[in-house]
Amino acid sequence: MSNKIQTLSGYIHEYQKSVQDPDNFWGRIADSFYWHKKWDRVVDWDFEKPDVKWFVNGKLNITENLLEKHLFLLGDKPAIIWEPNDPKEAVRTITYRELYEMVCQFANAMKAQGVEKGDRVIIYMPMVPEAAVAMLACARIGAVHSVVFAGFSAKSLADRIEDCQAKMVLTSDGNFRGDKKIAVKKVVDEALENTSSVERVIVLKRTGHEVIMKDGRDIWWSDAIEGVSKENKAEVMDAEDMLFILYTSGSTGKPKGVVHTCGGYMVYTTYSFQNVFQYNSGDVYWCTADIGWITGHSYIVYGPLLAGATTLMFEGVPTYPNPGRFWAICDKHQVNQFYTAPTAIRALQVFGAEPLKPYALDSLKVIGSVGEPINEEAWHWYHDHVGKGKCPIVDTWWQTETGGVMVSPIAGVTPTKPSYATLPLPGVQLAILDNDGNELKGNSVEGNLCIKFPWPSILRTTYGDHERCRQTYFSSFKGYYFTGDGVKRDEDGYYRILGRVDDVINVSGHRMGTAEVENAINEHPKVVESAVVGYPHDIKGQGIYAYVICDMEGRSEENLKNEIRETVNKIIGPIAKPDRIQIVSGLPKTRSGKIMRRILRKIATGETSNMGDTSTLLNPDVVEEIIEGAANVS
Ligand code: WTA
Repeated sequence: MSNKIQTLSGYIHEYQKSVQDPDNFWGRIADSFYWHKKWDRVVDWDFEKPDVKWFVNGKLNITENLLEKHLFLLGDKPAIIWEPNDPKEAVRTITYRELYEMVCQFANAMKAQGVEKGDRVIIYMPMVPEAAVAMLACARIGAVHSVVFAGFSAKSLADRIEDCQAKMVLTSDGNFRGDKKIAVKKVVDEALENTSSVERVIVLKRTGHEVIMKDGRDIWWSDAIEGVSKENKAEVMDAEDMLFILYTSGSTGKPKGVVHTCGGYMVYTTYSFQNVFQYNSGDVYWCTADIGWITGHSYIVYGPLLAGATTLMFEGVPTYPNPGRFWAICDKHQVNQFYTAPTAIRALQVFGAEPLKPYALDSLKVIGSVGEPINEEAWHWYHDHVGKGKCPIVDTWWQTETGGVMVSPIAGVTPTKPSYATLPLPGVQLAILDNDGNELKGNSVEGNLCIKFPWPSILRTTYGDHERCRQTYFSSFKGYYFTGDGVKRDEDGYYRILGRVDDVINVSGHRMGTAEVENAINEHPKVVESAVVGYPHDIKGQGIYAYVICDMEGRSEENLKNEIRETVNKIIGPIAKPDRIQIVSGLPKTRSGKIMRRILRKIATGETSNMGDTSTLLNPDVVEEIIEGAANVS
């Protein structure tokens, strides 16, 4: 692992090299991978189009770097340790050799079912090793996977299938989540009623739910692999061929399909994994995310497995069968690096230190955080109670679009500061811009977080709509990638992420576009109009606050609110259900008819002492009414 930074001066040196000569810097790192053909140029880029290519004309298959590469030295080493939802069920340990065989076999099975290079495959599965196998089998044959979090509704699933015109869906009969059993295949069936591109569905048996298998379309996983060879010759891919699409919410419209490609994503996820977590051979690494999110892609599956690490995969939830579950798993598997989200930390913090008492947690060396700003209180609790004061916290800032961690301490190397993501990784050239697009130089500044030079795992496009990619990320500030986050660089040059500056709400680390939630609410037949904003929530970070104008006739307020929540649940999924709903008679609007969210945000937050100038509103009186009504909102 020659690419590993070990000292602060080493970090500074690497960082400077990465800025002065990016070609040389990334070329050297990419050299440690297996390529069928080396690249002609390291990077070609133009942020205005945008058009970014890394390792131009390089040929590779990411799974050869993850499987074949490790067979010789690590063949018998655990690649995946799987901890089931029910602690009484048996753990599964899959070695690199076994993973190789499972991936090759399933790759062959998918091919036999008609999947070809370039086809899109939707993965809608629980957290079981087969989900990782499914992703890797796609990569093996050059199919493009798009994992959809298995908590999303049939409608959300159908939208994604439709958008990418998927040929196949991989799913399970059901999911275990805590004490719940969820009938997953049913959701797929419902989604497929309204889409036409899917030819085959492969179904893994997990819960024993009764399912209807549609003749000629559905096939059991076990039947699909029956008698199929465990050898497969990897498809040779161009560095810029699509590896996967992952849908994520933005401030406008429907979720968009963020596209990542093979070469750059491989290099960056490996490099960032090795450095941020300082993984050492023999360590057990655990990231608690779901593979439905980018964190699961980059830091449960690709990054750790490319680095030859042992990655733990957990099927369940932090509070089942009790709030000590995370800590029980850490001790049981002697976890060395533990990576979770602030919302999980805050949810567990509520139970106090008691649930931690039975556990030593002495194997932990590094603890990480991702998904949203971590408040100081949660940071200290995590540091003191989980890390026992001896584990560095890596607060990692990044996005679906960045593919890998951008700003984070390097464990044990970068001095940490509560609530600070600290410093950019080598290769990441940050810029803070004011609203007029001027770069704010020097320390003690605050503004919009932008990036001025490409890194290997930057998104390449949004699937089927390149203009949307340009508009969303590359048009706010000419020549820069705009993250949508606000940031402060303090007097020491350290970065603290301040949260979204656009209309995206971060609920328990999940991105929700306000427009998306509004559209779902508006589907309720009695709703006339709605406006959604975020407000501070003790556990979720942000909660969803919906102001709704509706026709109340024949309904109680309580019933109507429940129905609205159910509508959102059906259209998007449970994570988008509004925490608070306020029925209002009007929404504050400008004379041009634009909703004044600034005012609604203030009311939702309870900051009503200074509402700013409301005189230019079309309907200033409604503000008073909303403030009064807000006092009784649930
Ligand atoms: C937020 C998750 C503060 C941020 C990897 C970003 C964070 C959005 C952090 C991306 C962090 C993520 N500190 N905020 N350490 N990590 N965010 O695409 O607002 O699900 O833009 O990627 O989460 O969310 P996404």
